[in-house]
Amino acid sequence: SDQCGIAVESRIDCGRDRSLSRADCEGRGCCYVPLPQSGLGGPPWCFYPVRYPGYKMGPLLPTEKGQRATLARSEPSYLPRDIPTLQLDVMPETLGRLHLTLKDPASPRYEVPFVTSQSRGHKDIQNPLYDVDFQPDPFGFIVRRKSNGRVLLNTTIGPLLFADQYLQLSTSMASSAISGLGEHYTPITLDLNWSSVSLWNRDMAPHQCDGYSVLLLSKMAYYVVFLQPAPALTWVTVGGILDFYIFLGPSPQSVVQQYHEVIGYPMMPPYWSLGFHLCRWGYTSTNITRTVVQLMRQAKIPLDVQWNDLDYADQRRVFTFDPQRFGDLPQMVEEFHQLGMKYVLILDPGISSASPPGSYKPFDDGLKRGVFIKNSTGQILIGKVWPGPTAFPDFTNPTTQDWWMDCIRVFHSKVPVDGLWIDMNEPSNFVQGSVDGCPDSDLEKPPYTPGVIGGQLNSGTLCVSAQQYLSNHYNLHNLYGLTEAIATHRALLKVKSTRPFVLSRSSFPGLGRFSAHWTGDVRSDWEQLRFSIPGVLLFGLYGIPLVGADVCGFGGDTTEELCVRWTQLGAFYPFMRNHNDRPNAPQEPYVFSQQAQDAMRTAITLRYSLLPFLYTLFHHTHSSSSTVARPLFLEFPTDPNCQSIDRQFLWGSSLLISPVLEEGAVQVTAYLPPGTWYSLHNVIPPLMLYILNHKGQCILFPAPLDTINVHVREGSIIPQQVPALTTTASRRNPFTLIVALSVGNWAKGELFWDDGESLDTFEHGHYSYVLFFAQEVQNRVNFVKLNGSLDGLVLGEVRVFGVQASPTAVWANGQKVHDFSYSPDTKFLISYSLSVQVISLCFRCV
Ligand code: GLC
Repeated sequence: SDQCGIAVESRIDCGRDRSLSRADCEGRGCCYVPLPQSGLGGPPWCFYPVRYPGYKMGPLLPTEKGQRATLARSEPSYLPRDIPTLQLDVMPETLGRLHLTLKDPASPRYEVPFVTSQSRGHKDIQNPLYDVDFQPDPFGFIVRRKSNGRVLLNTTIGPLLFADQYLQLSTSMASSAISGLGEHYTPITLDLNWSSVSLWNRDMAPHQCDGYSVLLLSKMAYYVVFLQPAPALTWVTVGGILDFYIFLGPSPQSVVQQYHEVIGYPMMPPYWSLGFHLCRWGYTSTNITRTVVQLMRQAKIPLDVQWNDLDYADQRRVFTFDPQRFGDLPQMVEEFHQLGMKYVLILDPGISSASPPGSYKPFDDGLKRGVFIKNSTGQILIGKVWPGPTAFPDFTNPTTQDWWMDCIRVFHSKVPVDGLWIDMNEPSNFVQGSVDGCPDSDLEKPPYTPGVIGGQLNSGTLCVSAQQYLSNHYNLHNLYGLTEAIATHRALLKVKSTRPFVLSRSSFPGLGRFSAHWTGDVRSDWEQLRFSIPGVLLFGLYGIPLVGADVCGFGGDTTEELCVRWTQLGAFYPFMRNHNDRPNAPQEPYVFSQQAQDAMRTAITLRYSLLPFLYTLFHHTHSSSSTVARPLFLEFPTDPNCQSIDRQFLWGSSLLISPVLEEGAVQVTAYLPPGTWYSLHNVIPPLMLYILNHKGQCILFPAPLDTINVHVREGSIIPQQVPALTTTASRRNPFTLIVALSVGNWAKGELFWDDGESLDTFEHGHYSYVLFFAQEVQNRVNFVKLNGSLDGLVLGEVRVFGVQASPTAVWANGQKVHDFSYSPDTKFLISYSLSVQVISLCFRCV
């Protein structure tokens, strides 16, 4: 019939929960139209007709926060335990932010507690960027951008389903360029060819960008998103409520900002955490760990943070250290501190439950204080992780948070760690559910469990019927890592009174306020190297900017070439750590040939020279929400070429990084967006290219093994510092500046500077902020001007790119500078050893 005449790409699957025969399908009142190819993974054969019956919407009535309506269905749906009456709340929160919830008014259902310090905005919004229209029967809503009438979302394309353990909503999308949806192994733009993304223990930020940005944030604890070419998507979740934010931008950057306003701005990391980190599973004693540090220093490769994996722990039990092999761990950490370095070790959440009573305090104490997750019948749930049988702390319980702090305080009093690495916090469990299995219940086996590896919610984790302080594990599962990160951050803050450093494997929206993230156990291969870029970029959008993949790869043996290329790319991950699995060949920089070591040293040293710039980007992200490692589409939203680029990325808006991602390649094809870009090959000595283009272009650049291509965007001033083997040392070195002039002879830049570790320096005003300007004033070019002063800040060199004519003289602070050189070929000017504080540098002054 007409009702079934829906374009194939727009069919919404009526048999998501199970596959249906024609009779079953038609029994649901759906259309059954087989297609030549198998329905598996492609368009569905059984799909909803136009206006499939659903909820009917009553009148919208004003409330304090917006408007409210009641939805009711006269016929039950095909799902068990249907909820017949729903409450819709439409809450315009800011001009660009709309919040919608659908709940059961008769009985409260689980809602994700959103931890955010940001205000909820106004409730009386005049003239927002959006219009919302409703289709009353069957219920659906349409969100339009007011300025151009463009439909951003339209949920009338499929029914709303709301049963106890199955909730579903579909919407059209305004563009096929969809990006986001949490952590997954994909390019930056998602495949809409009947694919799906599952968010079990993952966070989400569906993001769409075509210059008509809209971002959806869903606060559901777990869900699956099905994507189809219409373009459209369908959310399915197994509990909770439906809770959506729609962010209107209009620019992609402002969409990210609006999202971060809801989930909270990222933390300010300690300066040292931006240095190079070195780790592996298999540094089996303090002496071996010491040797690693020694060899790094001998190789003259910067290293700020030495790590230990589980090897340190006595029988793999956290908060202990092996009395033989790590007996002098406290001294070792002191020695590292003497070298100006830091130390981090791993902390798994599973607490060994099998030690003889009285011999392992964290468990004995935890038991007394009731901190562990219980099974459905009220006994402590025991699973299995590295130490064998383990209990799992329930970090939603305030008592657990205090117990955790006590454990950290006691351990820190012996081993003065600088940060903590919280792993296995999905939480991971080597047995399904618990050592005693899980009960046979609707929670453990919902009528429908979409897209979970292992097929069941309790696969590789805890029984979801397990009980936690705030709710059951079914609802809280995805928040385990976040709640552990909050507790760990709080403990470090109290114990150390400096900026905490926490690294978490599991994530959820809001994690970036407390923790860094790494992308888990990547394999040492070229494909994983390549996909680490979208992985890292997406976390920037999710407000978790301090992120990286294990440099050189974790699983399997790396190769020298791969490890060099990975170190070059890793030098531009916001978080840079080389980490390796136990059985693998070593991959510390010093194990490779002299040529490889030189290339790695160059890359890491380049990173160190750029740390003042990187730190300033983190400040911007922390204080006003932006991104550090940035996809090109965010910076150049109207350039269609940038939409799906994820083999290159930016630092802020000024540095374009174009790494080699293929074995054997000694050239790289890089896209340069419109404008002038200056090449920053191997900065010391600087070899500078000069490219002018009004349209974006793909350009083939040489990229021999010792080179990563980095380009500076015209109009930017990049603060740098003379690198050293640690940030403790480099922070005492002179600053240098790169001034990349625009065609109109101007440039600007900033530096945020503080002691690098005190708490809330920005909030308390304990920082310096320097603005740099280069501009042409009355026939003279004033190159640099520092507004403000900084104790001990000394400017060494200034390099200026794009100086069109040979300067006759250079003045600094009104004095003639003799030590400068100019190259007419590269249009590059450098003034050496200025050793001045507040400066104005000028040439061609008259
Ligand atoms: C997990 C972590 C990995 C760590 C290992 C041993 O696999 O992801 O980084 O080395 O556990 O602790």
